[in-house]
Amino acid sequence: MKIAFAAPGKFKGEALAAAVFENGQLSASAQALDEASGGAIKRALKSSRFSGKKGQFLDLVSPNGVEAARIVLFGLGKEAELGDLDFERAGGSLYSRLASSGATDATVFVDDLNDAKTTTQSAAAHLGLGLLLHSYRFDKYRTKEKPEKKPSLKSATVGVAKAANARKQFNELKFIADGVFATRDLVSEPANVIYPESFAAEAKKLASLGLKVTVLGEKEMRKLGMGALLGVGQGSKRESQLVLLEWLGAKNKKSAPVAFVGKGVTFDTGGISIKPAAGMEDMKWDMGGAGVVFGLMHLLAARKAKVNAIGVCGLVENMPSGNAQRPGDIVTSMSGQTIEVINTDAEGRLVLADALTHVQREYKPRAIVDLATLTGAIIISLGNVHAGLFSNDDELSERLSAAGKAVGEPVWRMPLGEDYDRLIDCDAADMKNVGGRGGGSITAAQFLQRFVDEDRPWAHLDIAGVTWSSKDKPTVPKGATAFGVRLLNQLVAQHYED
Ligand code: BES
Ligand code: MN
Ligand code: ZN
Repeated sequence: MKIAFAAPGKFKGEALAAAVFENGQLSASAQALDEASGGAIKRALKSSRFSGKKGQFLDLVSPNGVEAARIVLFGLGKEAELGDLDFERAGGSLYSRLASSGATDATVFVDDLNDAKTTTQSAAAHLGLGLLLHSYRFDKYRTKEKPEKKPSLKSATVGVAKAANARKQFNELKFIADGVFATRDLVSEPANVIYPESFAAEAKKLASLGLKVTVLGEKEMRKLGMGALLGVGQGSKRESQLVLLEWLGAKNKKSAPVAFVGKGVTFDTGGISIKPAAGMEDMKWDMGGAGVVFGLMHLLAARKAKVNAIGVCGLVENMPSGNAQRPGDIVTSMSGQTIEVINTDAEGRLVLADALTHVQREYKPRAIVDLATLTGAIIISLGNVHAGLFSNDDELSERLSAAGKAVGEPVWRMPLGEDYDRLIDCDAADMKNVGGRGGGSITAAQFLQRFVDEDRPWAHLDIAGVTWSSKDKPTVPKGATAFGVRLLNQLVAQHYED
């Protein structure tokens, strides 16, 4: 979608959107529209429940006195309490209303807020980002959708004073949307299209942004001793891959990087410990962690972040077959630690184990964050709102929590500890790949921690509950969410750039 910025004043566009604050206080443009329409807005407020509360909307169709086919009033609530996220959400919700209204073009007015004149352009830029984020749609395989069912909105203008400033800020924010969309595209693709080699082929294209891209195949990984990762992929016809994405944007190209490691199970049948049929199609997005790493590295490179960062995507397909790994098999990981595979469906941790070892040996990162759709248990714990956060480092945890709050991708810290760690001790090998029935997300995290160096700041995000959304949210249409891209971009921007 095209988003432009222009000075307010002229009422242009098929639809006009104007803000109303708590208790029906009209913004300047809502006031002007009221006057132009002979008081239609004040009358509409009187005869509806719309009162300008945050998240409320009211449509006035074919109003008198203005050329637009409709006026959309959007409530923003208390002016003093508004932050960037509120404007993103307002923009996102406006998109979904406008896109189903039939209007192809709209103007959304963001007026000078009382005294906060300096933030108006920022508010407008974030509202524009919200519009853009909600305009995402994965419809490339829908060949027969009727035109009248498709979103009508093609372009929007944000009407704001000092439009050039707003446009400039929006152009920076737009990199975020590009990264988020790159992730959503990959995660939405079915597993017959995105599999380890095709994912790696997409990653190679990122070289055009200045990233160094390295792809290891099974032969190379075997040489490195990655028996845990390779065991998961051995039942598949598709060759497993490890993708390394390097972005050296810091002044000192030799300073230790931050590392991001993603679980990329391009399809998870469960393997021989096969999953039930119902809902198994969801396991096409079991590469969501790797998808986030991909979109994040895209974003960091596109906005030329002043950071050294490494992205690692562990890519495998978990299939049952005559050559598949069996329950009871014992594999040797790259770290040298041995693992009894009790359940072949607890495969993500096996993939991450070798990816974590490799990134530490190769790059000695100053911090590592891994992301994985790792356990169903985290959905029981936290539902579809927070990602689970596990970490050996309080500072990194607090940074992640704050970053999540700031961008609307919240995380909730969960415990780690010896008493949980003991649950994956094993008689036959150094550890087993599952704990007992209880605390499934925690024992999974304990497993990962066994592959993290003692003093290395590390955090694990279990994103199983937040990677896919069955409901539309203001800035996240239903489907692949890309949860984690904005969070980690914020983390980098706040703490790891020169
Ligand atoms: N990919 C799944 C976890 C998952 C479940 C992600 C639902 C998204 C939605 C993971 O590989 C898995 O199968 N985990 C098992 C672990 C168990 C066998 C210990 C689980 O959570 O049931
Ligand atoms: Mn599994
Ligand atoms: Zn999985």
